[in-house]
Amino acid sequence: MYSEKVMDHFQHPRNMGEIEGASGVGTVGNAKCGDIMRIYLDIDENQIIRDVKFKTFGCGAAVATSSMATELVKGKNIQEAMQVTNKAVMEALNGLPPVKVHCSLLAEEAIHAALWDYAQKNGIEIEGLEKPKSDIHEGEEEEEEEY
Ligand code: FES
Repeated sequence: MYSEKVMDHFQHPRNMGEIEGASGVGTVGNAKCGDIMRIYLDIDENQIIRDVKFKTFGCGAAVATSSMATELVKGKNIQEAMQVTNKAVMEALNGLPPVKVHCSLLAEEAIHAALWDYAQKNGIEIEGLEKPKSDIHEGEEEEEEEY
């Protein structure tokens, strides 16, 4: 039921891990299946994504889509990264079974959440980027500043 590409990215995920001191971190979850995905972006002063890593606590399709999504945004600028939609990720994986389409949405949302975090930290706006709906902040994230 999965394409060879999906199986390849599931069995050999690219860019798995985390980036310490990342420029932007986005964590999103799917309420229905309970799966969680986190994307770390390292963005340079020219707004180019130098490095990207992910951690996914989820199904095989979630692992494969995160892996492919990181490949697609690496080396891109932040505007180009906005074009990496779940559709683009699915196409790059040669499709997903219909019941697994929501898993690819998680990848798109996680990238957007990480870009949002980067934009917030740098006081900039990214065209077309909206505040993530399901950004999850866990205890290990940096503490919120209080005034
Ligand atoms: Fe939840 Fe795949 S079943 S992300």
